[in-house]
Amino acid sequence: MTEQEQITTDLHPLHLTVNGKDVDSVLDSRISLADFLRHELRLTGTHLGCEQGSCGACTVIVDGVAVRSCLMFAVQLNGSTVETVESLCVDGQLSRLQQAFHEEHALQCGFCTSGFLMSLTAHLREHQVTNDQEAREALSGNICRCTGYAGMVKALLAVGDGESTTQ
Ligand code: FES
Ligand code: FES
Repeated sequence: MTEQEQITTDLHPLHLTVNGKDVDSVLDSRISLADFLRHELRLTGTHLGCEQGSCGACTVIVDGVAVRSCLMFAVQLNGSTVETVESLCVDGQLSRLQQAFHEEHALQCGFCTSGFLMSLTAHLREHQVTNDQEAREALSGNICRCTGYAGMVKALLAVGDGESTTQ
């Protein structure tokens, strides 16, 4: 068998729960979670920026933990529960964090926004955010190339019941 044939026949069954729905597939082991979500499930709210784990644009929540979906193979997550940005808005109702992003103008081009929302959603489940320092630490794992961090700090503090002391 040629190397190419071996690669194209490296298929694995995959079962996931994605945004509350069961998903079954048979998948090449090389497919990243990000590509599986975007291309197979058409959940295109998960964005790809650097594709090397630096920017955080591809962040989703797997079994309660925020992860870089560009760095994970989909098949390694067999049996896991995945949440994407599409899960945040329920019955047309934005999550508190999404609403705060909207009210505090916490995005510019929006490319990074879904990754920030998922990182911060996971963070807020475990931590309080009550001051600028805590907010900036919570934001520090993701990169916004438009550099619109001030609005995100305010949005995060609005949800965490804190108050910004800087402009
Ligand atoms: S696209 Fe995954 S971290 Fe940048
Ligand atoms: S809003 Fe443009 S990259 Fe963050």
